[in-house]
Amino acid sequence: MSFCFNFDVPAETTNSADGNELRNREKQSAAKSEDDTKPAEPVKEAKEHLPLSDPQLLLMDAVTETVAIGTLPPLHFLNETVFEKTASEREDGERILSRTAEQRSDLISGVYEGGLKVWECTYDLLELIEKDGETFGGKAVLDLGCGAGLLGILALKRGAKQVHFQDYNSTVVEQLTVPNVMLNCQEDDEVDSEDDKEEGRGKGKIQEEDGCKKKVKEKQDENPPPKKRAVDLSQQPLLAKCRFFSGDWSTFLALVKKEDPQPKYDIIFTSETIYNTAYYPTLHETLHKLLAPGGLVYLATKSHYFGVGGGLHLFETFVEQRGIFSLDHLWDGEEGLQRHVVVLRFKVAKDT
Ligand SMILES: C[S@@+](CC[C@H](N)C(=O)[O-])C[C@H]1O[C@@H](n2cnc3c(N)ncnc32)[C@H](O)[C@@H]1O
Repeated sequence: MSFCFNFDVPAETTNSADGNELRNREKQSAAKSEDDTKPAEPVKEAKEHLPLSDPQLLLMDAVTETVAIGTLPPLHFLNETVFEKTASEREDGERILSRTAEQRSDLISGVYEGGLKVWECTYDLLELIEKDGETFGGKAVLDLGCGAGLLGILALKRGAKQVHFQDYNSTVVEQLTVPNVMLNCQEDDEVDSEDDKEEGRGKGKIQEEDGCKKKVKEKQDENPPPKKRAVDLSQQPLLAKCRFFSGDWSTFLALVKKEDPQPKYDIIFTSETIYNTAYYPTLHETLHKLLAPGGLVYLATKSHYFGVGGGLHLFETFVEQRGIFSLDHLWDGEEGLQRHVVVLRFKVAKDT
Protein backbone atom coordinates (compact mmCIF):
# COMPACT_ATOMS: atom_id res chain seq x y z
CA MET A 1 0.00 0.00 0.00
CA SER A 2 1.42 3.31 -0.98
CA PHE A 3 1.81 5.99 1.60
CA CYS A 4 -1.07 8.40 1.77
CA PHE A 5 -0.87 11.46 3.97
CA ASN A 6 -4.57 11.64 4.61
CA PHE A 7 -5.43 7.96 4.74
CA ASP A 8 -8.17 8.75 7.20
CA VAL A 9 -10.37 9.96 4.36
CA PRO A 10 -11.44 6.93 2.32
CA ALA A 11 -11.60 7.04 -1.46
CA GLU A 12 -15.18 5.80 -1.32
CA THR A 13 -17.29 7.07 1.51
CA THR A 14 -19.82 4.84 3.16
CA ASN A 15 -22.18 5.25 6.07
CA SER A 16 -22.69 1.57 6.80
CA ALA A 17 -21.46 0.03 10.02
CA ASP A 18 -19.46 -2.45 7.95
CA GLY A 19 -17.90 0.37 6.02
CA ASN A 20 -16.88 2.10 9.21
CA GLU A 21 -15.51 -1.13 10.58
CA LEU A 22 -13.48 -1.58 7.42
CA ARG A 23 -12.20 1.96 7.59
CA ASN A 24 -11.16 1.44 11.19
CA ARG A 25 -9.34 -1.75 10.31
CA GLU A 26 -7.66 -0.05 7.39
CA LYS A 27 -6.63 2.81 9.62
CA GLN A 28 -5.23 0.46 12.22
CA SER A 29 -3.31 -1.60 9.73
CA ALA A 30 -2.07 1.49 7.90
CA ALA A 31 -1.00 3.03 11.17
CA LYS A 32 0.80 -0.18 12.07
CA SER A 33 2.61 -0.64 8.80
CA GLU A 34 3.44 3.03 8.31
CA ASP A 35 4.24 3.71 11.91
CA ASP A 36 7.94 3.17 11.76
CA THR A 37 8.45 4.62 8.33
CA LYS A 38 6.59 7.72 7.30
CA PRO A 39 4.01 9.66 9.26
CA ALA A 40 0.47 8.76 8.28
CA GLU A 41 -1.93 11.11 9.97
CA PRO A 42 -5.41 12.35 9.34
CA VAL A 43 -5.69 16.07 8.76
CA LYS A 44 -5.80 17.57 12.21
CA GLU A 45 -9.27 18.75 13.07
CA ALA A 46 -9.32 22.24 14.49
CA LYS A 47 -10.36 22.72 18.05
CA GLU A 48 -10.40 25.53 20.54
CA HIS A 49 -8.42 25.22 23.75
CA LEU A 50 -9.52 26.87 26.94
CA PRO A 51 -6.62 27.91 29.16
CA LEU A 52 -7.92 26.06 32.19
CA SER A 53 -4.99 23.78 32.83
CA ASP A 54 -3.08 23.91 36.04
CA PRO A 55 -0.33 26.48 35.55
CA GLN A 56 1.84 24.71 38.07
CA LEU A 57 1.92 21.64 35.87
CA LEU A 58 2.38 23.64 32.70
CA LEU A 59 5.31 25.49 34.15
CA MET A 60 6.82 22.32 35.55
CA ASP A 61 10.62 22.47 35.36
CA ALA A 62 10.23 25.64 33.39
CA VAL A 63 13.32 27.25 32.02
CA THR A 64 12.29 30.59 30.67
CA GLU A 65 13.93 32.89 28.22
CA THR A 66 13.23 36.54 27.70
CA VAL A 67 13.38 38.50 24.51
CA ALA A 68 14.07 42.17 25.06
CA ILE A 69 14.28 44.24 21.92
CA GLY A 70 14.65 47.99 22.24
CA THR A 71 11.45 49.59 23.46
CA LEU A 72 9.33 46.47 23.12
CA PRO A 73 7.98 45.01 26.33
CA PRO A 74 10.01 41.97 27.40
CA LEU A 75 8.55 38.73 26.13
CA HIS A 76 8.94 35.56 28.16
CA PHE A 77 8.74 32.04 26.88
CA LEU A 78 9.54 28.48 27.86
CA ASN A 79 12.76 27.15 26.47
CA GLU A 80 12.17 24.06 24.38
CA THR A 81 14.58 21.99 26.47
CA VAL A 82 11.82 21.62 29.02
CA PHE A 83 9.98 19.34 26.60
CA GLU A 84 12.91 17.03 26.15
CA LYS A 85 13.51 16.84 29.86
CA THR A 86 9.95 16.21 30.89
CA ALA A 87 8.54 14.44 27.84
CA SER A 88 7.80 11.23 29.73
CA GLU A 89 5.77 13.08 32.37
CA ARG A 90 3.74 15.12 29.90
CA GLU A 91 0.56 14.31 28.10
CA ASP A 92 1.63 13.52 24.56
CA GLY A 93 -1.55 12.38 22.88
CA GLU A 94 -0.22 13.48 19.49
CA ARG A 95 3.06 11.70 20.20
CA ILE A 96 5.00 14.67 18.95
CA LEU A 97 7.32 14.88 21.92
CA SER A 98 8.39 11.27 21.61
CA ARG A 99 8.52 11.30 17.82
CA THR A 100 10.58 14.47 17.49
CA ALA A 101 12.99 13.07 20.05
CA GLU A 102 13.17 9.72 18.23
CA GLN A 103 13.59 11.29 14.82
CA ARG A 104 15.69 14.19 16.07
CA SER A 105 13.70 16.46 13.84
CA ASP A 106 12.36 19.99 14.13
CA LEU A 107 9.59 19.20 11.74
CA ILE A 108 7.68 16.06 10.75
CA SER A 109 5.36 17.07 7.98
CA GLY A 110 1.70 16.50 8.82
CA VAL A 111 2.61 15.33 12.32
CA TYR A 112 4.59 18.03 14.02
CA GLU A 113 5.02 21.36 12.26
CA GLY A 114 7.78 22.83 14.37
CA GLY A 115 5.92 24.89 16.95
CA LEU A 116 7.87 23.86 20.04
CA LYS A 117 10.75 26.22 19.40
CA VAL A 118 11.02 29.87 18.44
CA TRP A 119 12.16 30.19 14.83
CA GLU A 120 14.58 32.97 13.97
CA CYS A 121 12.36 34.95 11.59
CA THR A 122 10.10 35.70 14.52
CA TYR A 123 12.94 37.82 15.90
CA ASP A 124 13.28 39.65 12.58
CA LEU A 125 9.63 40.59 12.68
CA LEU A 126 9.85 41.68 16.32
CA GLU A 127 12.76 43.94 15.43
CA LEU A 128 10.88 45.41 12.51
CA ILE A 129 7.87 46.12 14.72
CA GLU A 130 10.18 47.80 17.19
CA LYS A 131 11.59 50.08 14.49
CA ASP A 132 8.18 50.85 12.97
CA GLY A 133 6.55 51.57 16.31
CA GLU A 134 3.34 49.64 15.56
CA THR A 135 1.28 49.61 18.74
CA PHE A 136 -1.70 47.34 17.91
CA GLY A 137 -4.02 49.44 20.07
CA GLY A 138 -7.61 48.24 19.65
CA LYS A 139 -6.76 45.79 16.88
CA ALA A 140 -7.89 42.23 16.31
CA VAL A 141 -4.82 40.09 15.80
CA LEU A 142 -4.22 36.51 14.67
CA ASP A 143 -0.90 34.76 15.23
CA LEU A 144 -1.19 32.07 12.56
CA GLY A 145 1.15 29.12 13.07
CA CYS A 146 2.07 30.72 16.35
CA GLY A 147 4.29 28.15 18.06
CA ALA A 148 5.54 29.96 21.16
CA GLY A 149 3.24 32.87 20.28
CA LEU A 150 5.69 35.74 20.80
CA LEU A 151 4.19 37.92 18.07
CA GLY A 152 0.67 37.56 19.41
CA ILE A 153 1.92 38.11 22.94
CA LEU A 154 3.57 41.35 21.88
CA ALA A 155 0.33 42.56 20.32
CA LEU A 156 -1.51 41.61 23.50
CA LYS A 157 0.91 43.53 25.69
CA ARG A 158 0.72 46.51 23.39
CA GLY A 159 -3.02 46.92 23.59
CA ALA A 160 -4.64 44.67 20.98
CA LYS A 161 -8.32 44.24 21.71
CA GLN A 162 -8.18 40.52 20.95
CA VAL A 163 -5.49 38.06 20.03
CA HIS A 164 -6.14 34.64 18.62
CA PHE A 165 -3.39 32.06 18.54
CA GLN A 166 -3.37 29.12 16.12
CA ASP A 167 -0.91 26.27 15.88
CA TYR A 168 -1.12 22.97 14.04
CA ASN A 169 -0.43 20.90 17.15
CA SER A 170 -2.66 20.80 20.20
CA THR A 171 0.35 19.81 22.30
CA VAL A 172 2.08 23.03 21.26
CA VAL A 173 -0.96 25.15 22.08
CA GLU A 174 -1.58 23.51 25.45
CA GLN A 175 1.96 23.11 26.63
CA LEU A 176 3.74 26.09 25.11
CA THR A 177 1.49 28.82 23.70
CA VAL A 178 -0.95 28.96 26.61
CA PRO A 179 1.78 28.80 29.30
CA ASN A 180 3.73 31.53 27.51
CA VAL A 181 0.71 33.80 27.38
CA MET A 182 0.12 33.11 31.06
CA LEU A 183 3.75 33.85 31.88
CA ASN A 184 3.49 37.18 30.12
CA CYS A 185 0.12 38.07 31.55
CA GLN A 186 1.55 37.94 35.02
CA GLU A 187 5.06 39.09 34.25
CA ASP A 188 4.78 42.84 34.63
CA ASP A 189 3.81 42.81 38.24
CA GLU A 190 5.31 39.51 39.27
CA VAL A 191 8.22 38.09 37.36
CA ASP A 192 9.75 41.50 36.77
CA SER A 193 9.29 42.80 40.26
CA GLU A 194 11.63 45.48 41.50
CA ASP A 195 13.16 42.93 43.86
CA ASP A 196 14.05 40.73 40.98
CA LYS A 197 15.62 43.64 39.15
CA GLU A 198 17.80 44.42 42.11
CA GLU A 199 18.80 40.84 42.60
CA GLY A 200 19.20 40.21 38.92
CA ARG A 201 16.87 37.22 39.09
CA GLY A 202 14.17 36.37 36.62
CA LYS A 203 15.63 38.58 33.94
CA GLY A 204 17.43 37.74 30.79
CA LYS A 205 20.80 39.09 29.89
CA ILE A 206 20.48 41.73 27.25
CA GLN A 207 22.88 41.25 24.43
CA GLU A 208 23.81 43.85 21.88
CA GLU A 209 23.34 42.29 18.48
CA ASP A 210 23.01 43.97 15.10
CA GLY A 211 22.84 47.29 16.92
CA CYS A 212 19.69 46.16 18.66
CA LYS A 213 19.21 45.06 22.20
CA LYS A 214 18.24 41.57 21.48
CA LYS A 215 17.61 38.53 23.46
CA VAL A 216 18.78 36.98 26.12
CA LYS A 217 18.79 33.68 27.72
CA GLU A 218 18.73 32.89 31.31
CA LYS A 219 17.93 29.84 33.24
CA GLN A 220 15.44 30.45 35.97
CA ASP A 221 14.98 28.46 39.14
CA GLU A 222 14.16 24.83 38.43
CA ASN A 223 10.91 25.26 40.33
CA PRO A 224 8.61 28.07 39.31
CA PRO A 225 8.21 30.74 41.98
CA PRO A 226 5.17 30.15 44.20
CA LYS A 227 3.40 33.25 42.87
CA LYS A 228 3.16 31.63 39.45
CA ARG A 229 1.21 28.79 40.93
CA ALA A 230 -1.45 31.09 42.32
CA VAL A 231 -2.62 32.46 39.01
CA ASP A 232 -6.38 32.86 38.74
CA LEU A 233 -7.26 32.78 35.06
CA SER A 234 -10.68 34.33 35.53
CA GLN A 235 -8.98 37.39 36.98
CA GLN A 236 -6.63 37.88 34.05
CA PRO A 237 -7.87 40.67 31.80
CA LEU A 238 -5.15 40.10 29.23
CA LEU A 239 -5.82 36.39 29.04
CA ALA A 240 -9.50 37.11 28.61
CA LYS A 241 -8.67 38.77 25.28
CA CYS A 242 -7.10 35.57 23.93
CA ARG A 243 -8.38 32.49 22.19
CA PHE A 244 -6.35 29.44 21.30
CA PHE A 245 -6.84 27.04 18.41
CA SER A 246 -5.08 23.98 17.11
CA GLY A 247 -5.49 22.09 13.85
CA ASP A 248 -4.84 22.28 10.17
CA TRP A 249 -5.50 25.65 8.53
CA SER A 250 -8.34 24.27 6.42
CA THR A 251 -10.23 22.99 9.46
CA PHE A 252 -9.36 26.07 11.51
CA LEU A 253 -10.87 28.25 8.81
CA ALA A 254 -13.99 26.08 8.66
CA LEU A 255 -14.33 26.28 12.44
CA VAL A 256 -14.11 30.05 12.75
CA LYS A 257 -16.24 30.63 9.65
CA LYS A 258 -19.13 29.01 11.52
CA GLU A 259 -19.02 31.74 14.15
CA ASP A 260 -21.39 34.63 14.07
CA PRO A 261 -19.94 37.16 13.63
CA GLN A 262 -17.09 35.49 11.82
CA PRO A 263 -13.75 36.77 13.13
CA LYS A 264 -11.80 39.11 10.87
CA TYR A 265 -8.36 40.26 11.82
CA ASP A 266 -6.76 43.67 11.35
CA ILE A 267 -3.37 42.05 11.63
CA ILE A 268 -2.29 38.51 10.87
CA PHE A 269 1.21 37.47 11.83
CA THR A 270 2.65 34.39 10.27
CA SER A 271 6.28 33.51 10.78
CA GLU A 272 8.16 30.64 9.12
CA THR A 273 5.03 29.03 7.73
CA ILE A 274 5.72 28.89 3.99
CA TYR A 275 8.28 26.10 3.94
CA ASN A 276 5.91 23.56 2.37
CA THR A 277 4.38 24.44 -1.01
CA ALA A 278 1.65 21.83 -0.48
CA TYR A 279 0.20 24.09 2.22
CA TYR A 280 0.04 27.25 0.09
CA PRO A 281 -3.57 26.87 -1.09
CA THR A 282 -4.98 26.47 2.45
CA LEU A 283 -2.69 29.12 3.87
CA HIS A 284 -3.66 31.58 1.17
CA GLU A 285 -7.37 30.79 1.59
CA THR A 286 -7.11 31.29 5.33
CA LEU A 287 -5.45 34.68 4.91
CA HIS A 288 -7.95 35.64 2.24
CA LYS A 289 -11.00 34.78 4.32
CA LEU A 290 -9.81 36.01 7.69
CA LEU A 291 -8.07 39.29 6.92
CA ALA A 292 -10.24 42.33 7.55
CA PRO A 293 -10.61 44.91 4.78
CA GLY A 294 -7.64 47.22 5.13
CA GLY A 295 -5.86 44.61 7.23
CA LEU A 296 -2.23 43.55 6.98
CA VAL A 297 -0.53 40.16 6.93
CA TYR A 298 3.02 40.27 8.23
CA LEU A 299 4.96 37.30 6.93
CA ALA A 300 8.47 36.59 8.16
CA THR A 301 10.31 33.93 6.23
CA LYS A 302 13.52 32.51 4.91
CA SER A 303 14.24 32.72 1.19
CA HIS A 304 14.36 28.98 0.92
CA TYR A 305 13.72 26.00 3.15
CA PHE A 306 16.21 23.33 2.23
CA GLY A 307 14.86 19.83 2.49
CA VAL A 308 11.22 20.98 2.43
CA GLY A 309 11.27 23.00 -0.76
CA GLY A 310 9.17 26.08 -0.10
CA GLY A 311 10.36 29.63 0.23
CA LEU A 312 9.59 33.25 -0.46
CA HIS A 313 10.02 33.23 -4.22
CA LEU A 314 7.60 30.33 -4.69
CA PHE A 315 5.10 31.89 -2.30
CA GLU A 316 5.33 35.26 -4.04
CA THR A 317 4.62 33.57 -7.36
CA PHE A 318 1.66 31.75 -5.82
CA VAL A 319 0.26 34.98 -4.36
CA GLU A 320 0.71 36.81 -7.63
CA GLN A 321 -1.13 34.08 -9.55
CA ARG A 322 -4.07 34.21 -7.15
CA GLY A 323 -4.34 37.95 -7.66
CA ILE A 324 -5.91 38.66 -4.27
CA PHE A 325 -3.04 40.28 -2.39
CA SER A 326 -0.24 42.65 -3.18
CA LEU A 327 3.02 41.78 -1.49
CA ASP A 328 5.72 44.24 -0.48
CA HIS A 329 9.09 43.64 1.05
CA LEU A 330 9.55 45.44 4.36
CA TRP A 331 12.94 44.03 5.22
CA ASP A 332 15.43 41.88 3.37
CA GLY A 333 18.27 40.39 5.35
CA GLU A 334 21.75 41.29 4.35
CA GLU A 335 23.45 39.01 1.91
CA GLY A 336 23.92 35.56 3.31
CA LEU A 337 21.16 35.82 5.87
CA GLN A 338 18.44 35.12 3.34
CA ARG A 339 15.60 36.15 5.60
CA HIS A 340 12.77 38.55 4.83
CA VAL A 341 9.74 40.26 6.24
CA VAL A 342 6.97 41.03 3.78
CA VAL A 343 3.50 42.46 4.08
CA LEU A 344 0.39 41.35 2.22
CA ARG A 345 -2.70 43.49 1.78
CA PHE A 346 -5.80 43.18 -0.37
CA LYS A 347 -5.26 44.55 -3.86
CA VAL A 348 -8.70 46.06 -3.83
CA ALA A 349 -10.16 47.18 -0.53
CA LYS A 350 -13.02 44.83 0.25
CA ASP A 351 -16.35 45.99 1.65
CA THR A 352 -17.04 42.87 3.63
C1 LIG B 1 8.28 26.39 11.74
S1 LIG B 1 6.93 26.61 12.79
C2 LIG B 1 7.03 28.35 13.15
C3 LIG B 1 6.48 28.66 14.50
C4 LIG B 1 6.48 30.15 14.88
N1 LIG B 1 5.63 30.92 14.00
C5 LIG B 1 7.87 30.71 14.91
O1 LIG B 1 8.23 31.50 14.01
O2 LIG B 1 8.61 30.41 15.83
C6 LIG B 1 5.62 26.57 11.60
C7 LIG B 1 4.23 26.72 12.20
O3 LIG B 1 3.29 26.75 11.13
C8 LIG B 1 2.12 26.07 11.48
N2 LIG B 1 1.68 25.23 10.35
C9 LIG B 1 2.43 24.74 9.37
N3 LIG B 1 1.68 24.06 8.50
C10 LIG B 1 0.41 24.12 8.96
C11 LIG B 1 -0.83 23.63 8.47
N4 LIG B 1 -0.91 22.91 7.35
N5 LIG B 1 -1.94 23.88 9.17
C12 LIG B 1 -1.85 24.61 10.31
N6 LIG B 1 -0.72 25.12 10.81
C13 LIG B 1 0.41 24.87 10.14
C14 LIG B 1 2.41 25.24 12.70
O4 LIG B 1 1.56 25.68 13.67
C15 LIG B 1 3.84 25.56 13.07
O5 LIG B 1 3.97 25.90 14.41
